[in-house]
Amino acid sequence: MKGIILAGGAGTRLYPITKVYSKQLALIYDKPLIYYPLSILMLGGIKDVLIISNEETIPLYEKLFGDGSQLGISISYAVQAAPNGIAEAFIVGEDFIGKESVTLILGDNIFYGKLNFFYNAIEGNGDGATIFAYKVNDPQRYGIVKFDESGHALSIEEKPQNPKSNYAVPGLYVYDNRVVEISKKLTPSARGELEITDVNKTYLREGKLKVQPIGRGVAWLDTGTPEALLKASSFFGVIEDRQGFKVACVEEIAYQKGFINREEFVKLIETIPKSLYRNYLEKLLED
Ligand code: G1P
Repeated sequence: MKGIILAGGAGTRLYPITKVYSKQLALIYDKPLIYYPLSILMLGGIKDVLIISNEETIPLYEKLFGDGSQLGISISYAVQAAPNGIAEAFIVGEDFIGKESVTLILGDNIFYGKLNFFYNAIEGNGDGATIFAYKVNDPQRYGIVKFDESGHALSIEEKPQNPKSNYAVPGLYVYDNRVVEISKKLTPSARGELEITDVNKTYLREGKLKVQPIGRGVAWLDTGTPEALLKASSFFGVIEDRQGFKVACVEEIAYQKGFINREEFVKLIETIPKSLYRNYLEKLLED
């Protein structure tokens, strides 16, 4: 299974935060936003990751993560020249995906809680696609899916005026290899984008779109406005402060998942400047 993080987009709704750097580098409590989606892929056991962004932001991500080897994974980078839609990630990432299955996560999507819904989807991935469904109050803002009790999709629509359900489709998708060919055949929508919802509609027509509901114990957080950024920061501030554990600490995850051994973990810590973050990692060595 390969993993793609799509971290493009102009982020204009967050201006002037996004005037100089991209939204996915904005702060969520004590680390850049993109740590959160990367941690989800790593927790899913995905060790081969492609970050897609615009040309000017790629060097910043490279500075942040390098080739990923310090985390025991491989991170490569590709440019999406213009914000032509989420589904273009599979065209930009065609060579990277090769003949494998692929999980796509949007660089501004945050999940927190038990990730069994995701682990099950990765494990059960064979033929077709798995999307997730999360109950929301504002269904007009998202891709909306209606599904039956056995998890078969009945309909999926992008930002419907009259939603058929309250279940939004979060920016996390698990596909078989056909997603590349399907994406290549798409035509741009009214907003000029290759829509991920159109990819999902193709799988739906073929009876190959599985829907895995995400329970109420999991938080799927929005990061689209300054208020949402503040709320997400407070949320993780409260949790980290109370529990003493860091969320989305990719170094910790790499160590705990066995992507790096103790010796490599020690070496990695040595590269981190003296900070609360480093103190936290050092303390893990004592536990
Ligand atoms: C995109 C997708 C939408 C999905 C959402 C999740 O919306 O098109 O189907 O529900 O991400 O974050 P956009 O961010 O392009 O408005």
